[in-house]
Amino acid sequence: MNRKTDFLVIGSGIAGLCYALKAADAGKVCIVAKSDLEETNTKYAQGGIAAVMRPPDSFEKHINDTIACGDGFCKQEIVEMVIKEAPERIRELIEWGVEFDRDPDGKFNLTKEGGHTGNRVLHHKDNTGEEIQRALKQKISSHPNIEILEHHFAVDLITQHHLGKKVKRSHTDTECYGAYIMNQKGSDVFSLLSRTTVIATGGIGNLYHTTTNPVIATGDGIAMVYRAKGKVNDMEFVQFHPTSLFNPGERPSFLISEALRGFGAVLRTMDGEEFMTQYDSRGSLAPRDITARAIDKEMKIRGDDHVLLDATHLDPVKLKENFPNIYKKCKKTDIDITKNMIPVVPAAHYLCGGIEVDKNGKSSINRLYAIGEASSTGLHGANRMASNSLMEAVVFAHRAAEESKKQFNKYEINYNIPQWNIEGTNYPEEMVLITQNYKEMQQIMSNYVGIVRSNLRLKRALARLKIIYQETEELYKKSTLSVNLCELRNMINVSYLIIKMAQKLRESRGLHYTLDYPSKKSGMEF
Ligand code: FAD
Ligand code: SIN
Repeated sequence: MNRKTDFLVIGSGIAGLCYALKAADAGKVCIVAKSDLEETNTKYAQGGIAAVMRPPDSFEKHINDTIACGDGFCKQEIVEMVIKEAPERIRELIEWGVEFDRDPDGKFNLTKEGGHTGNRVLHHKDNTGEEIQRALKQKISSHPNIEILEHHFAVDLITQHHLGKKVKRSHTDTECYGAYIMNQKGSDVFSLLSRTTVIATGGIGNLYHTTTNPVIATGDGIAMVYRAKGKVNDMEFVQFHPTSLFNPGERPSFLISEALRGFGAVLRTMDGEEFMTQYDSRGSLAPRDITARAIDKEMKIRGDDHVLLDATHLDPVKLKENFPNIYKKCKKTDIDITKNMIPVVPAAHYLCGGIEVDKNGKSSINRLYAIGEASSTGLHGANRMASNSLMEAVVFAHRAAEESKKQFNKYEINYNIPQWNIEGTNYPEEMVLITQNYKEMQQIMSNYVGIVRSNLRLKRALARLKIIYQETEELYKKSTLSVNLCELRNMINVSYLIIKMAQKLRESRGLHYTLDYPSKKSGMEF
């Protein structure tokens, strides 16, 4: 079966929904999401969205902070563009119904997070993402030009390869004609043909044991683009958030927002010592790469399972008022954050790299855009600054929509696409083959490709990954498709890209720290 649309949007987080709302002025939009529409990384965002809203803040300060966090790898022109366009996009979110907290005088209440030299983070209590997702969902639901397919899984992009032509990564004429989509109720696969396709599939946290990301974050879009011979870059820069709640067995890990440190909370070792000022003059509000590495080192030296985040000296009434969800969640685990320190550990949180795109979100494949966390725009460099991700998503969703609205009428729907071939496939006899390889993949990535790396660890990781890669590819060829199998395959592809790019970077830079090249060209040694 073939279906068709003008704009195919894969992903229903902030990036996909903002793009869809804009593209729908020009044509039919179909949004595909592999879970419920609202089950996205976006929904879990806590701290907020960064933007310069009023003096004494300035574009210059936000630009400088972003570049400093990115450790020399940001693209200056992209940083300037995004930061200058962000306030307009924020006004649009507000017009669409998103409510950000305000002070009694009606001005936005702006908070601070790691790496920011001033208060510039707009937020809705400590559940900003949920508020954004709510408002966008409401706006989308009533739009006559937008169709939503929940519980539909994008398996692969369709290109000339499916017409029997050879496609190479070096080709500049590869075109995307849409994607093969699996309806999770019944598992049938159909082609969804489009004039323009947009990947907004989010992050990769589930490559690791401990992650703040929900189960949907399995790097599908990046793997699909890589298999379609599109360009992917900066994959070695996996961000570990310094402070997720230490609560063994809970998955995903609950995030303790950096905004709490912006509010005055301080990191301490298990015996109560403040330790961050030994590592960075900004103390507990140093950028994430530095903070996560310092925590990792302290835990290893002391043999401790976690460190502590101390908010007990802060005004208890204001603490509960500003962080109601963190307060409630910790209370459920018998921690009263106004009286007890919070046990925290780093957790895989965000991918700075991804699908290479230009300033309008266009990928190296024609008719294919990538926006949000799945994309690599050059904004974050080697380390993303807090609350710059939601900002990047809204700016690039707008730019990609504007650009693709100008282009989409040039492209015809390609009706020659073959049906998905299920010949010779069967249901996998043993689910354990999938679940065991999933566990192994997480072990490889967590043990060898985490916060601290080395040549030997990366070599081992690659050797072990190759074994499960071959096993999984064999299983994939002979099995009827399932979401679990597709996700595993995607995560193995993405792991491969992270390891290979980490091996290539022979210095320690931002989030990529390696024992073999510790004397990075700029900065400190651990
Ligand atoms: P997502 O919101 O993750 O949406 C991905 C979508 O893609 C989902 O709809 C999913 O179903 C769909 N999808 C994926 N694969 C497929 C497939 N194969 N087929 C069909 N659909 C698919 N950033 C900030 O700037 N500020 C914050 O305060 C902040 N806090 C955070 C807190 C947490 C706990 C987490 C996890 C992240 C936080 N981030 C924050 C990061 C930020 O939330 C994400 O980077 C951002 O929301 C990503 O948005 P997105 O639209 O790119 O993807
Ligand atoms: C947080 O609230 O600490 C998360 C912010 C982010 O990831 O940008």
